[in-house]
Amino acid sequence: MPQQTQPATLTADQRSNLVSLAEAAAQHSYSPYSHFRVGAALLLENGAIVTGCNVENCSYRLTSCAEQGAIARAVAEHGPKIRLRAVAVANLNDAISMPCGACRQTLAEFGDDSTLILYPGEGGKLEETTLGALIPHAFRLEYLEPR
Ligand code: THU
Repeated sequence: MPQQTQPATLTADQRSNLVSLAEAAAQHSYSPYSHFRVGAALLLENGAIVTGCNVENCSYRLTSCAEQGAIARAVAEHGPKIRLRAVAVANLNDAISMPCGACRQTLAEFGDDSTLILYPGEGGKLEETTLGALIPHAFRLEYLEPR
């Protein structure tokens, strides 16, 4: 069952640093089809920050979102036990953007209900929520285990 969990606490400096790194990653976006340039920055429980950007493909459905690229990179660099403390998503299109449904499930694999999610809202205002609020009924690893 989803639980009401307090978001991970980050200082104002940590938040703005994470958002800046997500914006910097978006500069590397490969998005010749949508022209929607997205970056993500993951703050891991070990204190490391890992970024990613969206990488599109002419076979459109093969597109990788920024969050998914960042997760793949984080596992490659820090191993399979990574845990997410916070995630910042940014775009260079002055648009609202929060993690899509698929990315929410991807993040849920390595985060928990309290993982802080920072994203650009209306008018570019920085908004925050939690992973638990974004995907209250995520499919979880433990569901695969026999009862
Ligand atoms: N995109 C992301 O990178 N993350 C999301 O959570 C939503 C969408 C990308 C995929 C595609 O390259 C572009 O944004 C437009 O959908």
